[in-house]
Amino acid sequence: MAEKTAVVNALQAVLPDLTAADIASKLEAPKDHKMGDVAFPTFTLAKVLKKAPQMIAQELVDQIDQSDFEKVVATGPYINFFLDKKQVTADTLKEVLAEGSNYGQNDDGKGQTIALDMSSPNIAKPMSMGHLRSTVIGNALANLSAKNGYQPVKINHLGDWGTQFGKLIYAYKTWGSEEEVKKDPIGTLLKYYVEFHDKAKENPALDDEGRAWFKKLEDGDPEAHKLWAWFREESLKEFTEIYDRLGITFDSYNGEAFYNDKMDRVVKALEDKGLLEESQGAQIVDLSKVNENLTPAMIKRTDGATLYMTRDLAAAMYRKDTYDFAKSLYVVGGEQREHFAQLKAVLSLLDLPWADDVEHIPFGLITFNGKKMSTRKGDVVLLKDVLDDAHELALKQIEEKNPTLANKDQVAEEVGAGAVVFHDLMNDRTNNFDFKIDEVVRFEGDTGPYVQYTNARAQSILRKAGVAVNTADIELDDPATWDIITALNAFPETVRRAFVNREPSVVAKYALGLARAFNKYYANSKILADDQNKNGRLALVAAVSETLTTALAILGVKAPKEM
Ligand code: ARG
Repeated sequence: MAEKTAVVNALQAVLPDLTAADIASKLEAPKDHKMGDVAFPTFTLAKVLKKAPQMIAQELVDQIDQSDFEKVVATGPYINFFLDKKQVTADTLKEVLAEGSNYGQNDDGKGQTIALDMSSPNIAKPMSMGHLRSTVIGNALANLSAKNGYQPVKINHLGDWGTQFGKLIYAYKTWGSEEEVKKDPIGTLLKYYVEFHDKAKENPALDDEGRAWFKKLEDGDPEAHKLWAWFREESLKEFTEIYDRLGITFDSYNGEAFYNDKMDRVVKALEDKGLLEESQGAQIVDLSKVNENLTPAMIKRTDGATLYMTRDLAAAMYRKDTYDFAKSLYVVGGEQREHFAQLKAVLSLLDLPWADDVEHIPFGLITFNGKKMSTRKGDVVLLKDVLDDAHELALKQIEEKNPTLANKDQVAEEVGAGAVVFHDLMNDRTNNFDFKIDEVVRFEGDTGPYVQYTNARAQSILRKAGVAVNTADIELDDPATWDIITALNAFPETVRRAFVNREPSVVAKYALGLARAFNKYYANSKILADDQNKNGRLALVAAVSETLTTALAILGVKAPKEM
């Protein structure tokens, strides 16, 4: 930001017909920084003025007031600005420190709401790594929308309805026990579910029993409903423990069951438009007009029961009514691509003007030490165990590095959970990756703890300095800091790009880059030396810590001041 202001001002003085925003949008970074810090291409101007770009570049350079720059030169069709680094450094640090945790904030989305469907685990089952991804990506996107001026609404669309609850009720009533469930709710319910499937393999009649109980549940049978509500409540208790550890909250827990009485309007709207067709007793919507590769959307089953899709259609409409979203994002694994393509297709067939604002945000698969997980086989890695292991590994390293640290346990939790979250977000959203905890919870390399540790180091320098940074009068003339200044300047743009691309990894990679630049500088300079640059260096350290902390906060990672 600060680096570009001088360039924009200088260009605008000689190009009064262009707006500042116009000029700013054309600025580029020269391929080789020996050629300058900021470049302005003259191709578009050349077309308008019907002159050779080289000529225009030279003419403008002759007119530009160069006093704010080291120099300004024409290189072919480009005007290359060599910034007054001392000035840019002072301006940048002042800006970061004045804005504090607000640095990077913009108001692009002012007055607009972003709905985020995120986490959305299925009750009576452990939360999987896939749901962890949805949770942390959704949370980071919510933070990014807020940073870009939008109002986020975080919705946990719990998987709390469906035939599996009929099976579970049957299993519980037939061979389950209340005490057993109370002791370990999700573990026990999962066990019943797995047992049900095993038994049903030998005795297919069990499936009918399960279906019958689900029918009762849908018809409002009090016993079925009471058991279902209890399973839901116990499951939520366990999920909440994980959300608390990750520091993640929701604005709504309206899950699938919430839409039980809201599907009539979906069916009616489809009927009114003549979109509902019968196929082998079921009600479907043919989507081939929208896209010939799409299979029909199933709205009602042969037995009249509604489906995942029907509930998602009702939910989409309910959310538009309730939140009047500008965008409605669904952070759900890539395996549900087809489902969301169908959802969007049905909404567009209904001529809803907001159908295009519905976006599936898919993400890749996590394997665990090379293995996939499957709830059906009871083959799961519990998130709670992952967080516990991460905590322990973090604690071990803290004991080695900083044995006298006061609140070790809390810091270990922040570092352990932070490591897991950061690792998840650092990968491009749609990439698959393997999770190996030893690589995730390390203080070196491309990890969350590395960024956290860098910030703690910066904080420790500021404590040792013993004087407050004078933020009003900053002077720093040191070419070795330039990479850091450039990185600090890139933060607002990074926040924008990460949101526009729905890609939290942009922020994670940014944080790693800034941390690396800072550590390189730290290794080669005496920050606390008593010379005229000392206050400037401390301002730099404070600005780095501020920006790292903000970047981590966007990702949902804590930044302990000591570790
Ligand atoms: N409960 C679903 C699952 O675990 C995810 C729900 C995603 N959200 C939605 N609106 N369909 O697969």
